[in-house]
Amino acid sequence: PLATTGELVTRAATERTAVAAFNIITLEHVEAVVAGAESVSAPVILQVSENAVKFRRGRLLPLARAATAAAEAASVPIALHLDHVQSDGLLRQAPDAGFSSVMYDASRLPYAENLTATRTAARWAHDQGLWIEAEMGEVGGKNGRPPLDAHAPAARTDPAEARAFVADSGVDALAVAIGSAHAMTTRTAALDHALLKRLTATLDVPLVLHGSSGLPDTELTAAVTGGITKVNFGTALNLAMTGAIRDFLAAHPEAVDSRKYLTVAREAMADTVARIIRVLRNE
Ligand code: G3H
Ligand code: ZN
Repeated sequence: PLATTGELVTRAATERTAVAAFNIITLEHVEAVVAGAESVSAPVILQVSENAVKFRRGRLLPLARAATAAAEAASVPIALHLDHVQSDGLLRQAPDAGFSSVMYDASRLPYAENLTATRTAARWAHDQGLWIEAEMGEVGGKNGRPPLDAHAPAARTDPAEARAFVADSGVDALAVAIGSAHAMTTRTAALDHALLKRLTATLDVPLVLHGSSGLPDTELTAAVTGGITKVNFGTALNLAMTGAIRDFLAAHPEAVDSRKYLTVAREAMADTVARIIRVLRNE
């Protein structure tokens, strides 16, 4: 059934576990995330990023309606989240499109401007009954910029600054920069566990990990143990999908029916979803 991000994250925090959030781009992503989560009986978050909306020719509703229908029919609780929103126009579409939550991303701006923009977004979101996540201390690797940016010492969330940011903006959750980076195609990133410890001790909102595809299993498990409550994955699904299609077409150069390679792509993504959820549960 359709759930809200707020309830899934709150439950995960209470149970000292984490809820996985997967970025969806195609209908195959949607079906794969649902199938993967159902196979391990876990709640899950389907997220649509602003970049995915751009890819869908600027239209949010077709993918949002498909995700809503898939969530309603699922045997596990599934929430819809709008991810990395920079445009106010997209932000305002969230409630009518069926999203219970948004991640408002003004982290590219200097602290004061990030705070002002995020506070305005948070007031509006709460008026609409939406749960809102923001980011402070930018996680690198967005929009084709080199992922390794995030490993620079400066690209870290400062605990005292983060505490003030959460208090002054009123957001429900915070994305933190602790060593992960977006769009990594190798699982070689390392987290700053000492910083995560300081952040969980200093902040009383759920913490969100971005760029999680670049982390090895041990780091993912340690992140959850260390207090991360929502864990975002995008690239892991694209690696699975594209790899499966590449292998299938290499083995079947005569293939024409798109269902043939989309079937293996969907299965590969569902397997990835189930594997990741088991790792987050430390199984
Ligand atoms: O918000 C989405 C995630 O941070 C995805 O990052 O594609 O590196 O897994 P990733
Ligand atoms: Zn992200």
